[in-house]
Amino acid sequence: MSVTVRVPAKVNVQLAVGAARPDGFHGLANVFLAVGLYDEVTVTPADALRVTCSGPDAAQVPLDRTNLAARAALALAERYGIAPDVHIHIAKDIPVAGGMAGGSADGAAALLACDALWSTGAGQEELLAICAELGSDVPFSLLGGAALGVGRGELLTPVEVGGTFHWVFAVADGGLSTPAVYGEFDRLTAGTDVPEPAASPALLDALRKGDAAALADTLSNDLQAAALSLRPSLAGTLEAGTAAGALAALVSGSGPTTAFLAADEESARKVAGALAASGTCRSTRVAVSPAPGATVQRP
Ligand code: C5P
Repeated sequence: MSVTVRVPAKVNVQLAVGAARPDGFHGLANVFLAVGLYDEVTVTPADALRVTCSGPDAAQVPLDRTNLAARAALALAERYGIAPDVHIHIAKDIPVAGGMAGGSADGAAALLACDALWSTGAGQEELLAICAELGSDVPFSLLGGAALGVGRGELLTPVEVGGTFHWVFAVADGGLSTPAVYGEFDRLTAGTDVPEPAASPALLDALRKGDAAALADTLSNDLQAAALSLRPSLAGTLEAGTAAGALAALVSGSGPTTAFLAADEESARKVAGALAASGTCRSTRVAVSPAPGATVQRP
């Protein structure tokens, strides 16, 4: 018997970053929006824990115990005294580039899939707590939709979304290390008074109304300057998408993926075509939001 879970990618429509905390993490007001690009994670009983991956970016996915899907299975097995003997297969469609929470998505999906396979009876609160131990973005991958994350991003409150938003993602060559981007943020803000991060009421209102033009005016990412400082070529990608008619452009999370909000599906296709032709990115993807969180697929 196998269990398959489908799990979405995310974009951060607001990423407000506070000063570094004593534990090294940064306080955040992080507004996550799930987007309709999905990985599918299948778990099957096996002789020992093993991870495989398929898809165009499969070669870039680690298959050892650093993979969040393996760590999720181990964490749940340990908690319930179960032998973690499962084959985890990741059918990967979320770009492996950084900024779209692909690794976090696989962690949340493997956790939900193992939970269903082993019938642990864990409730959502407990699964969210295990997700938070795995990484700051993992709880949101389980929840999906849209949510405000505070703390280091793991303490979630769902946010209402009143319409469909159209996105284009430009996938960059190579990655950017998340700790390095936060480190660059610290360097760039050293000696300044970093304000307490807070969610933007205007942005939450734009999401609630499904108003793409208002959302475009309120998108923000405090890590963008740090990502651009480490990867100056991303400025050219942002410019190419804006010139092609995107309502707004920003770095997604800690990057290097860049996100472009479009007025409608036709405009999204035009922006994607122009970005592909611009030579400023490796590939492009079009997707809509919001999208549901990790979901067990019924055969
Ligand atoms: O929680 P996660 O493992 O995804 O975090 C990866 C790294 O990103 C952390 O080790 C830390 O350097 C940085 N980070 C941070 N503040 C956050 C979330 C992540 O500094 N709120």
